[in-house]
Amino acid sequence: MFKTYNTLEGSDHSQPRVAALLACKNNLMSASWHMPISKSPFRYAVAVREENYTHRLLEEHGSFTLNFLPFEYYNVMDNMGRLHGNEHDKLELSGLKSESFDAEGNVFLNASDFIYACRVCDTYRNGDHTIFIVDVLSIHVNETQSDEPMLFSGRGRYASTTKAVTAKHPL
Ligand SMILES: Cc1cc2nc3c(=O)[nH]c(=O)nc-3n(C[C@H](O)[C@H](O)[C@H](O)COP(=O)(O)O)c2cc1C
Repeated sequence: MFKTYNTLEGSDHSQPRVAALLACKNNLMSASWHMPISKSPFRYAVAVREENYTHRLLEEHGSFTLNFLPFEYYNVMDNMGRLHGNEHDKLELSGLKSESFDAEGNVFLNASDFIYACRVCDTYRNGDHTIFIVDVLSIHVNETQSDEPMLFSGRGRYASTTKAVTAKHPL
């Protein structure tokens, strides 16, 4: 009934996660290993691989924006997850427009459904990623929000939600 694997790489299974563009200053990194960890104060965690340029930027700069783009931008998301910011101007290559920044100089991407402006308050190293724990200082919600969030399933596969319901209250 189940096939069993011992490594993530070997298993090749669909792992749908919300994808977002992490902008540290004007460098864009695709990110899907992220999650909310505290409601009040609102805190969030993002896992960043040590070899990524963003890792160095976050250690130096200590803040970023997390830009949640609608599904239609999946090609941009994929490209920003293949290039490195110390070799390319990724904002320029993305073709995405940015007309404003947070207080720390991290770009807001106009196309985002919503954006979290984040400041690092803690880090935790384990395995091959560092978990950056952040205070979400402000939440910016687009007036025209898409109903197609971007999910990344691994290995270049993207999807969006096909069904949306509101659950009934329990009896
Ligand atoms: C959809 C998608 C999600 C990704 N999620 C993460 C992630 O959560 N953490 C991470 O370290 N790398 C992640 N990556 C890989 C980085 O985006 C990739 O290594 C990127 O080139 C790093 O850019 P940088 O060197 O400019 O920081 C993801 C890639 C894709 C395509």
